[in-house]
Amino acid sequence: MERTLVLIKPDGIKRRLSGEIISRFERKGLKILGMKMLKLDRKRAEAHYAVHRDKPFYNELVNYITSDPIIAMVLEGRSVISVVRGLAGSTDGSKAVPGTIRGDYANSIQMNIVHASDSQESYEKEVAIFFNQDEIHGMVYGDEGLI
Ligand code: CMP
Repeated sequence: MERTLVLIKPDGIKRRLSGEIISRFERKGLKILGMKMLKLDRKRAEAHYAVHRDKPFYNELVNYITSDPIIAMVLEGRSVISVVRGLAGSTDGSKAVPGTIRGDYANSIQMNIVHASDSQESYEKEVAIFFNQDEIHGMVYGDEGLI
């Protein structure tokens, strides 16, 4: 069973969309194994977005993600990395298809409501930035009707 790391970014929280977003993941049948609200410090934000270090928007991106609290989640499910990226929609909210989280709620690239790991390798790096092993709860669910 695959896992992914999802962040609800400051715009998602300020716009009171956290419940709506979490609900979409739950209704899809994904399991929440870990969840916390935190204000990211610069060091962890830079580690999280290290692959974008050379991009022109990098500083703005780090400033933004550290500006206000976020919610971090570990989700589990079949093919959950691609499933969650499908639910989130294209990075640029103005191009995201209606019915996706960004398609329904974002019209910006930077303020695009959620972040989701794009690969198993990214998940492994990202989860270590946000969670200790004992904060990920693998055994709290049954799988009735969800496999
Ligand atoms: P996220 O999934 O968090 O991963 C990297 C983030 O960089 C992305 O979502 C966007 O919020 C942001 N991003 C990507 N491209 C641009 C861009 N051209 N200008 C500003 N921000 C961007």
